[in-house]
Amino acid sequence: MSPLAGAGPTGGPADGPAGWATTWLDLRGEADSRSRSAELLTTAFAAARAARPGPAPADGVPLRVVDVGCGAGAMARWVVTRADGVPTRWVLLDPDPSLLRVGRGRLADAGATVDAVRVGTSDDLPDLLGGEHAVDLVVASALLDVLPGPAVARLASAVVAAGVPLLCALTVTGEVVLDPPDPVDALARDCVARTATTGGALGPGAADTLVAAASAAGAGVRSRATPWRLDPTRDADLLRAWWDGHAAAARHGAGPEERSTVEAWARRRDTAVAVGGLRVVVAHTDVLLLPVPWAGR
Ligand SMILES: C[S@@+](CC[C@H](N)C(=O)[O-])C[C@H]1O[C@@H](n2cnc3c(N)ncnc32)[C@H](O)[C@@H]1O
Repeated sequence: MSPLAGAGPTGGPADGPAGWATTWLDLRGEADSRSRSAELLTTAFAAARAARPGPAPADGVPLRVVDVGCGAGAMARWVVTRADGVPTRWVLLDPDPSLLRVGRGRLADAGATVDAVRVGTSDDLPDLLGGEHAVDLVVASALLDVLPGPAVARLASAVVAAGVPLLCALTVTGEVVLDPPDPVDALARDCVARTATTGGALGPGAADTLVAAASAAGAGVRSRATPWRLDPTRDADLLRAWWDGHAAAARHGAGPEERSTVEAWARRRDTAVAVGGLRVVVAHTDVLLLPVPWAGR
């Protein structure tokens, strides 16, 4: 896995069989929660209810939701706490069985019903959409940029074909603003972007790929900028972990002639981070795909 994998900025220490650490996912949880677009979630819920076949569901009828790449269930819990009284039932999908176990437990603790957990990838979504658990809405968070291009296109096709909305939160777009600025920031960003796409992941191009695939199929698209704004006091631990991964990704992506410049930059920044002297904005986007009949609304 690339040092950048993890959508967001960087992976973070890996401790699961598939390489995703609950420590990292938990560290980023609060920043993720305050960054995701609640407005797009409201639209996603409305579209999910409208897209449900048959008569309009009465109040109290649960929405059936799949969380793709659910990790430890942070996105699902975010949705549950913002569901505004709408009950939800969940299918959790992730390649990592140990994360699925954690996610299932945490979702149950949050009072949600988990109908099934499935060890698998986003490519298993068509199966789930046509399977025994009828699905009204698909969600994902911090997933898209770790997927290869063809997998992103297949994800779009699967939801468009099923007529189900997809809310994809927190895909990194590659822009990072460090405060105070440094003349090497732009070069370092390019080096990080190279690392982000090693191993076939789309990295910062992922949201555009999803939008292009969905638009070509006639689906509607809404998107919102959902940056992390990391403050050295409020977000000290996350900022330090993010920085470590970002610096590692910059070093990894630097060419031979860039290495000494990037190394000196990383050391300058290390010093600033150590004394709480760095603020960071990490750009993300949330994208909502709407089924074809909703596209023009
Ligand atoms: C950065 S974590 C995000 C986890 C969770 N959605 C969250 O917001 O905390 C990325 C997750 O995607 C999962 N993943 C990696 N490759 C995947 C794939 N091809 N299909 C589905 N999930 C995948 C990982 O196991 C991990 O749980």
